[in-house]
Amino acid sequence: MRKKIIAGNWKMNKTPTETVTLIEELKPLVQNEKEDVVFCVPAISLAAALEAAKGSNIEIGAQNMHFEENGAYTGEIAPGMLTDIGVNYVIIGHSERREYFAETDRTVNKKVLKAFEHGMTPIICCGESLVQREQGVTIDWVRQQIKIAFLNVKKEQAKEAVIAYEPIWAIGTGKVATSAQAQEVCKAIRECIKEIYDSGTAKEIRIQYGGSVTADSAAELFSQDDIDGGLVGGASLKPDFGRIVNYR
Ligand code: 13P
Repeated sequence: MRKKIIAGNWKMNKTPTETVTLIEELKPLVQNEKEDVVFCVPAISLAAALEAAKGSNIEIGAQNMHFEENGAYTGEIAPGMLTDIGVNYVIIGHSERREYFAETDRTVNKKVLKAFEHGMTPIICCGESLVQREQGVTIDWVRQQIKIAFLNVKKEQAKEAVIAYEPIWAIGTGKVATSAQAQEVCKAIRECIKEIYDSGTAKEIRIQYGGSVTADSAAELFSQDDIDGGLVGGASLKPDFGRIVNYR
């Protein structure tokens, strides 16, 4: 049985001070032995978040990192800097990074390889735009994103990866995908992983749904066969996140 993984993507919200306050508030609400719980906070708040989450079930993740070890990349954060302070998860290729910061499938692949090299678990994002959905190319598009993201990733590493299927039209719009739509794509992603690796890897890899998940929609989404939890934006900054984590 795959363990569900429910992650909050705080995006560019909360100062380090506010981060500590919010983690203290959410800590008792997200207590849960059955699922993995990850808070992906802004880079400047990672150290404070790690300290605030100590002794709880909350793991702390980053929202991005560079694919080089170090060097002349002003403003960027290297993988080794994250692991040095104890960060084990990193979101890679979020659609907002692709749209506003020119990330491509190629850079996503480089970052995924680096994350594994450093023993981090990448949360690899994929998902189609509204136009792509309307044109019926969702599955083709997502398969391409996945195939490139996993280039040269070894089977043993792939098993540990987390994939977040996030339809762009559902992000921050309040327009959640139906559980059938989300399940259809997550199933296709698992099928794609089976083609690249094998059925064992496909069975182990965890696939989240993300896009306007709320406490009201979580239970139905997360109970689909191929949906192993969620990547939650807006609702992860509120006490509602406790209800999402304890959706059962
Ligand atoms: P919302 O839950 O705010 O729609 O954001 C989803 C998301 O982008 C998580 O990475």
